[in-house]
Amino acid sequence: MSTLGIVIMAGGRGTRLKSARPKVLHTVGGKLLLQHVIDAALTLAAPADIHVVIGHQADLVREAVGSTGVHFVDQPEQLGTGHALQMVKAAFLASGITPPDNLMVLSGDVPLIRPETLVTLWTTHQREGASMTILTAIPPSPQGYGRVLRQASASPRVSAIIEQKSLSAEQLAHPELIQEINSGIYVFHSTALFHCLGELKNDNSAGEFYLTDVAALLVKEGDPVVAVAADSVNEVLGANTISEMMHLDAAMRATTAQHHMANGVTIFRPDTVIIDSAVSIGPDTILEPFTQILGNTSIGKGCRIRSYSVIQDSTLGDNVLVRNGCILDNAKVGDGALLGPYAHLRPESRIGENAHVGNFVETKKTILGDGSKANHLSYLGDAVIGKGVNIGAGVITCNYDGVNKTVTTIGDNVFVGSNSTLVAPITLDDGSYVAASSCITEDLPAGALGIGRSRQTTKEGWATRRRAGLAASRSYENL
Ligand code: UD1
Ligand code: CA
Repeated sequence: MSTLGIVIMAGGRGTRLKSARPKVLHTVGGKLLLQHVIDAALTLAAPADIHVVIGHQADLVREAVGSTGVHFVDQPEQLGTGHALQMVKAAFLASGITPPDNLMVLSGDVPLIRPETLVTLWTTHQREGASMTILTAIPPSPQGYGRVLRQASASPRVSAIIEQKSLSAEQLAHPELIQEINSGIYVFHSTALFHCLGELKNDNSAGEFYLTDVAALLVKEGDPVVAVAADSVNEVLGANTISEMMHLDAAMRATTAQHHMANGVTIFRPDTVIIDSAVSIGPDTILEPFTQILGNTSIGKGCRIRSYSVIQDSTLGDNVLVRNGCILDNAKVGDGALLGPYAHLRPESRIGENAHVGNFVETKKTILGDGSKANHLSYLGDAVIGKGVNIGAGVITCNYDGVNKTVTTIGDNVFVGSNSTLVAPITLDDGSYVAASSCITEDLPAGALGIGRSRQTTKEGWATRRRAGLAASRSYENL
């Protein structure tokens, strides 16, 4: 059985993006371009058999995807896709490791490629006994892509790939002459590829060593070069410009939304909703327009996420209502909880079952127990709050003294009156009660009342006398 290794070309500058970030570290569908391609490659090969060519801002790329365990091949100067493969050949020679019989070459900027299609490419390559098998497509516009010239229209055999920049005047004027494009994804017989790489020339308008020139070189040697078309055009589209990336992003998110709808999730106006690929959502959950569900988020059954909420890396139980305009980041929310409108759950917020976090309430690194309520205008930071607690409007945990963050601990069934400040570190034991507008600086034992404010003074008749005085002085001024 012949062996297969995978090369991912990710060294290029991405000049057309006009971005400070390397192209392969841009995201579509909430995932890095290169991560998409590595994930596809991992369905066919072990990390040690995947070789990622890096050049432009190589350190950033290495850091971003290093945890996948893939190999990296340096391409210090980026002299074209053919040169990228020359670096791979040199790396094999230098290491003394025998290359696999075949190399599948993927492009770091063609992210929608499906594993099934790579399997088709690989089986076609073996069946045809080819030296090079090219994955192709016929998109609505071939503009910008290399064109695949077949030896005869119905033949799988290819005679050459012609780069966009090398098209003749006639071919440019009549794009319908060659509609089939090169996806930049191939399988090569390694020996045949390595043999040809040394013969590549850079005497073209881009001054680059084109990997695509290998096709004609192999044909000249009498080697079989074949083409196989992908089932869908979208999966072979490249991401060379921001506009192309956003096109792929929309396509990917549309597919994701369809997948969730097929599993019983209602998505109103799915074209306005942004769902990342790793998200899971239970049936009977409803997403309203303009919601964003990002990162590693999991949402249970029967939830409703109202418009303009952004939920990132969070876990929601069943039957949670997230009202409009909530922001959740790395939060955990129990079954039946009610959030918002305009609640902000910052990292490490743990909201219990049937708990409420209402209007303009911010939580950070806080546990709010089952059935507890903080309905209005609060900041709860570094707090451990028990069950059945009522946090009145405007309550603030003072968790920061300018140097250290300290914890507020509140037992079960505590009532904290409105507009109170709890100066941490502090403990309010089970069933204790804080009078409204208190500044609490000392621990409260179970069942106690804490009042921390000055006593009210009432001056009988004062307001009436003042109003009368003001009215008199005004009538004097008007004389
Ligand atoms: C390439 C193909 C073109 C095909 C298109 C499909 C060549 C010469 N042309 O064109 O036929 O239709 O892909 O998307 O191959 N890279 C390196 N090192 C380099 C240059 C590029 O690693 O020196 C990497 C890039 O990071 C990128 C990939 O190779 O991930 C493709 O390079 P790019 O410049 O985007 O090629 P295209 O012009 O799109
Ligand atoms: Ca490209």
